[in-house]
Amino acid sequence: MTAEEQTSIKNITVVGTGVIGNGWITRFLANGYHVTASDPDPAAEERTVAAVKQAWPSMEKVGLAEGASINNLSFEPDLAQAVKDADFIQENVPERENLKRQVIAQIDSHAPKGAIIASSTSGILPSTLQADCEIQPARVMVAHPFNPVYLMPLVELVGGKQTERNFVEKAESFYNSLHMKPLIIEHEIEGHVADRLMEAIWREALHIVNDGVATTEEVDASIVYGPGLRWALMGPFLTLHMGGGKQGMRHLLEQFGPALKLPWTKLEAPELTDELAEKVITGTEKQTENVSMEELEERRDQFLIELQELLEKYWPAATVKGSR
Ligand SMILES: NC(=O)c1ccc[n+]([C@@H]2O[C@H](COP(=O)([O-])OP(=O)(O)OC[C@H]3O[C@@H](n4cnc5c(N)ncnc54)[C@H](O)[C@@H]3O)[C@@H](O)[C@H]2O)c1
Repeated sequence: MTAEEQTSIKNITVVGTGVIGNGWITRFLANGYHVTASDPDPAAEERTVAAVKQAWPSMEKVGLAEGASINNLSFEPDLAQAVKDADFIQENVPERENLKRQVIAQIDSHAPKGAIIASSTSGILPSTLQADCEIQPARVMVAHPFNPVYLMPLVELVGGKQTERNFVEKAESFYNSLHMKPLIIEHEIEGHVADRLMEAIWREALHIVNDGVATTEEVDASIVYGPGLRWALMGPFLTLHMGGGKQGMRHLLEQFGPALKLPWTKLEAPELTDELAEKVITGTEKQTENVSMEELEERRDQFLIELQELLEKYWPAATVKGSR
């Protein structure tokens, strides 16, 4: 059965075609959908076509659905026109609360009733995003992906105060049909779950560079050759469970529980001074000085494809369904 037959979702509209919008477009096209894209920037269409073409060889490696083609993409800069026949709308405009509220309210007033409106927001609460919708706020939710969207399986689904559960479940089936791992988060918090965790590391990394403890390259190496390798298979909890030896987490907590009181982490972000910004920008540029962004993307994509094959091999039952 095709993704379309599984979910009865036929027409998809992607609003905002930057890094994330283009990633969604690639994933939708590769799964055999026709996609309408909308972005007011006159250069957007050319950028999107280039981005999809760049990612397409990766999609061919992963496997294309029957009928999947780059040609199944059309552009419609007028938002009302772009969403008028949509069954599913993925919103990816810049992370500015007022803009998102306004765009989502506009989508709500022009999309057919029952069409799902999913926002890729990294941190804004779904209750805030749906607050100005007058037609059907119940179908508005957060569906937060990870870059590159066409290869990363996780999508965090979060409903707001007015979201109805049946829409979240329909979105869950839809993302499952796209070979993703939707994680329904029952409580809305700024940053959802994964961004909250990544933000904590990001803040500490900035402190470490700001304090001159290590360079950007050294911080990256400390993750890539260390915890990052384990985290690709297990998250922080199972990783630490194994750090407790035969007694697992019980022993781990006895041994390292007291360290939670030590001032290892700062948590408050450092002030993003010009000096810190310069250190981070020149540091990362130095790390990549002989490699173009396109080459980095190809390397990352190939790595992610093989890594997911490994994950499937060593953790075939990997699931994001909770045990509660
Ligand atoms: N970049 C990431 O790694 C990442 C990861 C997950 C989620 N997100 C979220 O995805 C969203 C988009 O982020 P991005 O990194 O793709 O941003 P981006 O700046 O790359 O792209 C934003 C796009 O939106 C377009 N746009 C601006 N106003 C618009 C409007 N009124 N209607 C339609 N399009 C409009 C811009 O022309 C641009 O093409 C944000 O909410 C962000 O938090 C980003």
